[in-house]
Amino acid sequence: MRSPFNHVHLGFALLVALAFTTQTHAWAAVSRNCSDLLKNLDIPKNIQAPSGQTMHTVYFAKGLQHYSFNGSSWVLYNATASLYSINHSNTTKLTVKREVVGQHYFLEKADSQGGQPTWETFVPSTSLVTARTLSKVSVDDRSITWNLLQATSHSGSGSLLGSVTYLQRIATMGGLAPTTSAAQLGDVHSSRYSAIYVFYVSSS
Ligand SMILES: *[C@@H]1O[C@H](CO)[C@@H](O)[C@H](O)[C@H]1NC(C)=O
Ligand SMILES: *[C@@H]1O[C@H](CO)[C@@H](O)[C@H](O)[C@H]1NC(C)=O
Ligand SMILES: *[C@@H]1O[C@H](CO)[C@@H](O)[C@H](O)[C@H]1NC(C)=O
Ligand SMILES: *[C@@H]1O[C@H](CO)[C@@H](O)[C@H](O)[C@H]1NC(C)=O
Ligand SMILES: *[C@@H]1O[C@H](CO)[C@@H](O)[C@H](O)[C@H]1NC(C)=O
Repeated sequence: MRSPFNHVHLGFALLVALAFTTQTHAWAAVSRNCSDLLKNLDIPKNIQAPSGQTMHTVYFAKGLQHYSFNGSSWVLYNATASLYSINHSNTTKLTVKREVVGQHYFLEKADSQGGQPTWETFVPSTSLVTARTLSKVSVDDRSITWNLLQATSHSGSGSLLGSVTYLQRIATMGGLAPTTSAAQLGDVHSSRYSAIYVFYVSSS
């Protein structure tokens, strides 16, 4: 793993990108150059996608991580976020599109493979992937971990999320559980976050 500088760089690019552009465009145009986006980004070793996987598409997400207090700890029980396309044709100035193209949430109950976090696109058509977390790494102590997840169920078009095998949550900002322990059983707290989700498909 090289220096973590590129993480910072990408985070900065996204801050810049948060001044959303007004361009509207075909979703496909954004997904084309995924490889370029992460060409210079060091993904920590323990959340790298297994060999034989190719990057398929990338979304920027902004939303909430939802926690409840179980009497001794704050426990994550849901996440709700909007997904945005990223224009990464200029990798030093990523641009997040204003149009919401999908959503992220946890299924009410885990699927038969233990997957619960779900990503669903509705532009240009509906497709969905549910996944379970394989590994996590804390990159920034003010933000939620970067994660590697494995797909457990799908629906919809294979050219969208329907054929995704693995995905990563990277470049996270915020989203941590509260640090207060002065909470009561059943208290809930929603914490703002943003992240990039990177989706992989099998290269064979
Ligand atoms: C994708 O990147 C390659 C290499 O950088 C470039 O030649 C190509 O024009 C790009 N395609 C699009 C659609 O931006
Ligand atoms: C609360 O959550 C923590 C962390 O997941 C767990 O270790 C603990 O057993 C839970 N306590 C109760 C009362 O469920
Ligand atoms: C992406 O951004 C570049 C500038 O970095 C711009 O030239 C291009 O038109 C944009 N592409 C789309 C599909 O909006
Ligand atoms: C990419 O964006 C950076 C920062 O705005 C700019 O300096 C650079 O000229 C752009 N590169 C291209 C190829 O447009
Ligand atoms: C998470 O929130 C979404 C949207 O409100 C909801 O559909 C879903 O059932 C919730 N999941 C859980 C586990 O609460």
